[in-house]
Amino acid sequence: MEKRNIDWGSLGFSYTKTNSRYVSYYQNGKWDDGAMVEKAEVTISESAGVLQYAQTCFEGLKAYTTIDGNVVTFRPDLNAKRMSDTAKRLLMPSFPEERFLDALDQVVKANLDFVPPYGSGATLYIRPFLFGSGPVIGVAPAPEYTFRMFCTPVGPYFKGGVKPLKLVVSEYDRAAPNGTGHIKAGLNYAMSLYAGDVAHKNGFAENMFLDAATHTLVEETGGANFLFVTKDNKVITPKSSTILPSITRRSLMYVAKEYLHLETEEREIPLSEVSSFSEGGLCGTAAVISPIGSIQTSNGVISFPSGMEKMGPVCQKLYDTLTGIQMGTIEAPQGWIHSIA
Ligand code: PLP
Ligand code: COI
Repeated sequence: MEKRNIDWGSLGFSYTKTNSRYVSYYQNGKWDDGAMVEKAEVTISESAGVLQYAQTCFEGLKAYTTIDGNVVTFRPDLNAKRMSDTAKRLLMPSFPEERFLDALDQVVKANLDFVPPYGSGATLYIRPFLFGSGPVIGVAPAPEYTFRMFCTPVGPYFKGGVKPLKLVVSEYDRAAPNGTGHIKAGLNYAMSLYAGDVAHKNGFAENMFLDAATHTLVEETGGANFLFVTKDNKVITPKSSTILPSITRRSLMYVAKEYLHLETEEREIPLSEVSSFSEGGLCGTAAVISPIGSIQTSNGVISFPSGMEKMGPVCQKLYDTLTGIQMGTIEAPQGWIHSIA
């Protein structure tokens, strides 16, 4: 199959319209059979639940071309499960998890010419999303829903690839205790836009959000979890009920322990402890591992010993092992790699 004539190496993290996408509608209490369609535009009621009360959620995962030229996805069962969990919290009907996986295969197969080649530095980003498409006017869950899944080839999430990032501790909150921080609701992202804009205007790549209750504990960024490396090479990550359970972070903690034989710990991490760490990174599907160079706090700047030029050694090993597993150069744990074509 002939690939599209795209300069894969210069792709950023942006939308390119691809051949076709998957759509299924939920009406009268059940999902229809679903189908691939060419039309990328969506037509819905002006009073749709998504437009009036932000009843929408999404997922994000990637397809990779392995060293052998196969096209695979990484732990998509966990995205399917997380979307079901999110849907329940937003009073939306879950899209059946086995159908999510089938839709994923269909979307990737229909767009194989857009899957970036091995070694290009780019991947195919897949965006499943679910929203209230039926009309509401009183505050209530919508009577009808739409599930869609499209894909787009992408490069690195942050400009400059894997150069260490400058972060700032945000004065805004991302997620309230007992709120929606642990699910992938669109509303979490809408309300992070202002804080993100303030950070960008002040020259920072991203915000570090603290817990909303005490403003003392590290939570996550707008689109990625954190992991840190202590001076004695322990890999640690914040434990919190108000952050998204990142699939990348869960995978990296496993890789740290089982492949790199490092000690790992998921626990509360006070901001006051961060200056004692040797490395830090953002982890997520889009971010992969993006190293942290420095963090501006209200008490001055924390500069990581790994510096502003390159990733620290432990983050680099984690990055190389995870991407090796995804690209087929390192053997994957059972069930992590889903072959598509
Ligand atoms: N945290 C937030 C708020 C996110 O949007 C994402 C991206 O999906 C992540 C963390 C990372 O999650 P994952 O590794 O499952 O992509
Ligand atoms: C992802 O990593 O898939 C995300 O959803 C993060 C961001 C693009 C919202």
